[in-house]
Amino acid sequence: MNARAADEQKVALVTGGSRGIGRAVVVRLARAGYDVAFTFRQDAESARATAAEVTGSGRRAFYRPVDACDEKEVAGFAAGAREEFGRLDTVVASAGITGALGWDAVSSEEWRSVFETNLVGQYWAVRTTASDLKKTRGSVVLVASIGGLTAYPEQVAYAAAKAGTISLARSLAFALAPEVRVNAVAPGWVRTDMTAGLYDEPRARAAIVRGIPRGRWGEPDDVASAVVFLASDGARFITGETLVVDGGNVLSWRAGRRR
Ligand SMILES: NC(=O)c1ccc[n+]([C@@H]2O[C@H](COP(=O)([O-])OP(=O)(O)OC[C@H]3O[C@@H](n4cnc5c(N)ncnc54)[C@H](OP(=O)(O)O)[C@@H]3O)[C@@H](O)[C@H]2O)c1
Repeated sequence: MNARAADEQKVALVTGGSRGIGRAVVVRLARAGYDVAFTFRQDAESARATAAEVTGSGRRAFYRPVDACDEKEVAGFAAGAREEFGRLDTVVASAGITGALGWDAVSSEEWRSVFETNLVGQYWAVRTTASDLKKTRGSVVLVASIGGLTAYPEQVAYAAAKAGTISLARSLAFALAPEVRVNAVAPGWVRTDMTAGLYDEPRARAAIVRGIPRGRWGEPDDVASAVVFLASDGARFITGETLVVDGGNVLSWRAGRRR
């Protein structure tokens, strides 16, 4: 690669990139021409498979196990990615977990881990990379959920954390302006390991589809496609926004038909 080409090579950092939506984002970004640094928590085999897709697209991959909640680990990973690739254009914070089902079933430990992973970890991902993004006039995409926009009584901690993500995108859009754009995506039901319990249960799966005007569950790539758009120059005048990617599901929630 000559010096000019190296200067133009874009780089993305994705948290929770080993599986599900994060993995689809990593793969799409690589196909769009980015070298990609991504984190995972413990599933090294999935992380290796994701990295192989990146290198199969002719791009470079850098991946490490990092607890998204741990400021020092996140900062160490960002430093490693900086050393490996020399620049950073896009950060996507996708690492996330759900908690116990039932509004009154959440322990204080679970409140903490759900908030720290889904919300505080996103803040660390941005905080530790903001100076890199300012240099390249880059962008951030945070992964929220329609649960943070409406009501999700089965997962109160998760929904509150995702509402926090939407708020975080708005505040950071000002804090990092004018150089860096910060947006969120709010997926609806997407077929991943996180939702396998419902997807694998035929009645629950069908009940959910009845509330989705597009008539199917989302696929991880449906969300990745929106993320890559928000990261791109095509979204150059969009910041502080939350893009709902749910096949229209949120409309039926508003109409009083959650499923
Ligand atoms: N699936 C849905 O219907 C849906 C809907 C709305 C929003 N979302 C959001 O989309 C994002 C991705 O969800 P998904 O469905 O793709 O989940 P998933 O398939 O369970 O994948 C979760 C990913 O996050 C990583 N992760 C979890 N905790 C972590 C931690 N503490 N530190 C670092 N990485 C961590 C996992 O790493 P390991 O592989 O090592 O475990 C994995 O890569 C989440 O923020 C989720 O809330 C999902």
